[in-house]
Amino acid sequence: MSTDLLTDSFGREHRDLRVSLTDRCSLRCTYCMPADFADWIPTPELLTTDEMMRVIETATELGIDQVRLTGGEPLLRPDIVDVVRRITALPKAPRVSVTTNALRLAGLAGPLRDAGLERINVSLDTLDRDRFTEMTKRDRIDDVFAGLSAARTAGLTPIKINSVLMRGVNDDEAVALLRRALDEGWQLRFIEQMPLDAGNLWVRPRMVTADDIQSALSEAFDLSPVPVRGSAPAEEFFVNGTTQTVGIIASVTRPFCGACDRLRLTADGQLRSCLFSREETDLRPILRGELDHSAQASAIAAAIGGCVAGKLPGHGINDPSFIQPDRPMSAIGG
Ligand code: 5AD
Ligand code: SF4
Repeated sequence: MSTDLLTDSFGREHRDLRVSLTDRCSLRCTYCMPADFADWIPTPELLTTDEMMRVIETATELGIDQVRLTGGEPLLRPDIVDVVRRITALPKAPRVSVTTNALRLAGLAGPLRDAGLERINVSLDTLDRDRFTEMTKRDRIDDVFAGLSAARTAGLTPIKINSVLMRGVNDDEAVALLRRALDEGWQLRFIEQMPLDAGNLWVRPRMVTADDIQSALSEAFDLSPVPVRGSAPAEEFFVNGTTQTVGIIASVTRPFCGACDRLRLTADGQLRSCLFSREETDLRPILRGELDHSAQASAIAAAIGGCVAGKLPGHGINDPSFIQPDRPMSAIGG
């Protein structure tokens, strides 16, 4: 199969597939889900691991070389270790990483590493126990720290930390988070809050911008831009003249859609060309129909091609007509 199916009408080549393993989560981060969120994907609609593997295998045949497992919380999937093992055993095995809240990482870091996982991204927005409990509605910060230290012991490197700052909530912690990251050898990235929460609470004037973050950090650190960026969304800075870096992902105020190489597969089998897509390509009829193996692979490839071909140039958050996607982040996969 050719790689042309992964090149969109703006010339962007897609190499990175984000796969949401579940929309369930063990936390309730306010920028993601309301505390009483109940709009879960019905279980019969969730892809089985075999179904999901068929999509991932076809995607790698087309040229996807990087798979990121997300959620919800991907480590809630009971067969997560097996999923990683199966992906890394594919004929055209991609690199595999996981974006996790780390609550279950203490027990899983070693097995995941043995299964072929290379890296992890851990979401951590505060270092303060009470604030963590307030922001996530669960008193679990110790599990996160235990998970992070297990990840280091297991040799999952680099450990990247994603932090979302919210005004009046944790925006006073930018410097403390970076100090801790430098001490621990974590690669910290701040992500601008995006309008993706199930509660529809995002309001632009309250958003902590990349400029805000950069100026807060500059009070305590000397930051100098790292020259190369590629398709990576983070703008990276060297800290205090060392090789340690901090990243800022300015999804809203400095969109990087022009370099986007990402596709997404939701836990219920919908392909999306963007976090903010309002259209999805439903793969379940193909996966659950009567096609034989090779006809099914061709149909999946065609569906992936169609999804890529329909990709819009950008997310449009800054257009007056922007409408938030119907699914929350937890059901799309970050
Ligand atoms: N805006 C920005 N980042 C978000 N995340 C979840 N919801 C949002 C949002 N509305 C982040 C999480 C996690 C990653 C998958 O996405 O913090 O690190
Ligand atoms: Fe769970 Fe991640 Fe959403 Fe937090 S941001 S509630 S950890 S899915």
